[in-house]
Amino acid sequence: MNTKKVIMLGDVVGDPGLEALEKQLPRMIQEYDADFITVNGENAAEGFGISEAALNRMLAAGADVVTSGNHVWEKREFWPILRNEKRVLRPANYPAGAVGCGWTTIEKNGVSYLVINLQGRKMMTPIDCPFRTFDAIFNADEAQSATVVLVDFHAETTHEKEALAFYLDGRATVIAGTHTHVQTADNRILPKGSAYISDLGMTGVTDSVIGMDTGICVERSKKHVLYHMKCAQGTASAQGIVVEINVETGKAMKIERVNQ
Ligand SMILES: [Fe+2]
Ligand SMILES: [Fe+2]
Repeated sequence: MNTKKVIMLGDVVGDPGLEALEKQLPRMIQEYDADFITVNGENAAEGFGISEAALNRMLAAGADVVTSGNHVWEKREFWPILRNEKRVLRPANYPAGAVGCGWTTIEKNGVSYLVINLQGRKMMTPIDCPFRTFDAIFNADEAQSATVVLVDFHAETTHEKEALAFYLDGRATVIAGTHTHVQTADNRILPKGSAYISDLGMTGVTDSVIGMDTGICVERSKKHVLYHMKCAQGTASAQGIVVEINVETGKAMKIERVNQ
């Protein structure tokens, strides 16, 4: 049986997140003998969006594709890179004309990977339908060569994440939630062979409010005043999953959480 391992990591938050990624991802790749890596980078540039320098650091650390979410457009100077760089994605179901692309196919070590970034609509902005957007991409001619299909579903609610996961079960190899920055313990293989987790967690500081400074977040929540947020400082970890895949069938065999 021809198997490969994929690592998918949750939202990288600021410099502490980038430093944790640079320290932990190369070790994880060795430890698990991983073939293909996705990293969600939407908060890599000081917590808000991606910069060219942050993207380069994530790619150098081992990411094959950098996925993202609602924060990806915050650094305007990054837009030309988002428009042209095949290895960085924005959610595919934003309306046409939003800068960037929502999916890509990459050939690595004889396997063709299709990576799709989608975003939810519950308690988020009312963009196009993630279910129908997946169907359109999955059925596109350019996507037909892919045997492994990795989906980063950037969404707030577990209801919407589980619903999409069951809709994609048997078509996507992995459906991994992002955006909440809190790793869930529901990693499992669904009935038709897709690996699933509601949220990968984050790559950022442990003693934080979703990667940001606790004092500022407490004041924002307590007073409803939008004090400027700053990244937390302190010990950081890289959270996500390792999935073992049968690349002949495109089905997942095993999904494990990582938090290092
Ligand atoms: Fe995020
Ligand atoms: Fe987000």
